[in-house]
Amino acid sequence: MPRIVRPTAYGTPDVLTVTEVPVPRAAADTVVVEVRAAGVNPVDWKLYSGTFHAVDEDLKESAGVTASLPSLGLECAGVVTEVGSEVSGVRVGDEVIVFPVTEAYADYVTAPASSILPKPAGLGWPEAGSLLLTGTTAAHALHAVAVDAGDTVLLHGGSGGVGLMAVQLAAARGATVIATAAPRNHALLTELGATPVAYGPGLADRVRTAAPQGVDAAADFAGTEEALDVSLELVADRNRIVSLTGPDRRVEAGIKLIGYGPGQDAGTEVRAAARADLVHRAGSGTLRVVVDTVFPLAEAAQAHKAGLAGHAPGKLVLVP
Ligand SMILES: NC(=O)c1ccc[n+]([C@@H]2O[C@H](COP(=O)([O-])OP(=O)(O)OC[C@H]3O[C@@H](n4cnc5c(N)ncnc54)[C@H](OP(=O)(O)O)[C@@H]3O)[C@@H](O)[C@H]2O)c1
Repeated sequence: MPRIVRPTAYGTPDVLTVTEVPVPRAAADTVVVEVRAAGVNPVDWKLYSGTFHAVDEDLKESAGVTASLPSLGLECAGVVTEVGSEVSGVRVGDEVIVFPVTEAYADYVTAPASSILPKPAGLGWPEAGSLLLTGTTAAHALHAVAVDAGDTVLLHGGSGGVGLMAVQLAAARGATVIATAAPRNHALLTELGATPVAYGPGLADRVRTAAPQGVDAAADFAGTEEALDVSLELVADRNRIVSLTGPDRRVEAGIKLIGYGPGQDAGTEVRAAARADLVHRAGSGTLRVVVDTVFPLAEAAQAHKAGLAGHAPGKLVLVP
C-alpha cells in the first residue's frame, strides 16, 4: 500500500506517523504523481508545531493549512501515473515538478494541473523536488525590493534554502551580493557569487567593510533581531527592506513583509510567474539547487529534527 506521512497531533517531529492509504485517483482537473522526491521546508514543521504565525484566513489553502491537522509537503517531483479527463498537455509517464501542492510527503500525490511543470531531463530528482518553494520565495523577495543590476543587496541567512536561491538570482541580475552565513558556509557562498559575511556581533561593520559603496536593499531570511537591526541601519529606503520572518517589531518598522501572515504580501502572481524561469535555469545549470541531505520518506521526523537544528546549508529532501 502507498504511504503518507502525517502529524497525528500538534507537537515535536515525533508526532509524524507513516500511514498506509489507497493510491489517490485523479479528479477531472488533476493528475496523480508518483513522488520521487519531496522538498522539506520550515513551513512544514511550523504548521504542526503550533508555533507558526497566524495565517490569513483567505490564504490558508495556499499556506497548506487545509484541515484541522495540517497536511505536509508543499512541493515534489515525480512521474505522472494518471491524468484527469479535463487535463491536456500532460501524459502518463511524464516526469514533472509539482508546486504548489499539499500532502507531498507520500508515495503518490494528487495535484492540480496548474501546478505541474515538465522536469528537465538533466535535473536530479532531489533537486527538482526542492527547487520551487525556496526559488519562488527568493524571486518574490528580490522583486519586492526591486533588486537590479548595479545594486548592492544584503541577504541575511544566505546559506539557507531561500538564501542560496536569492544569492544566485540576485547575482544573475548583476547585483553585488553580500550574504550572511556561518563561516563554514562561506566558500559555498563565494562559489555562487556572493561576498560572505559572518552573522553575530559586529555584523554592521563587517558589511560596511565588505560594501564600502553602501547597501541599497536587504532581504531577511534569518528572522533575527540582528538581521532586522542591521538592515534598518544600513539601508536608507525602508521600501527596499523585505522580511520573511522575524520579530513582531518589524511590522512597525515600515518594511516589506511577504508570506502568508495577516497583512503580508503573498505574492501569488509573482511566485507563479517565476516557476518556469526557475525550472529553466535549474535545467540549464545556471541555477544550482544545493541539497544538503536526502532522507527516506519514513524518516521524515529525522529530517524535521535536522531542519529544526537550523544550520543545514541548502535543502533537506525526502525520497519515497
Ligand atoms: N514567508 C514566506 O513565504 C516564506 C517562504 C519560505 C521560507 N520562509 C521562512 O524563511 C526562513 C528561511 O527559510 P529557509 O527555507 O531558507 O530555511 P533554512 O534552509 O532552514 O535556512 C535557515 C538558515 O538560517 C541561517 N541562520 C541560522 N541562524 C542564523 C542567525 N543567527 N543569523 C543569520 N542566519 C542564521 C542558517 O545559516 P548557517 O547554516 O550558515 O548558520 C540557515 O542556513 C524560515 O523561517 C522559513 O519559514 C518564509
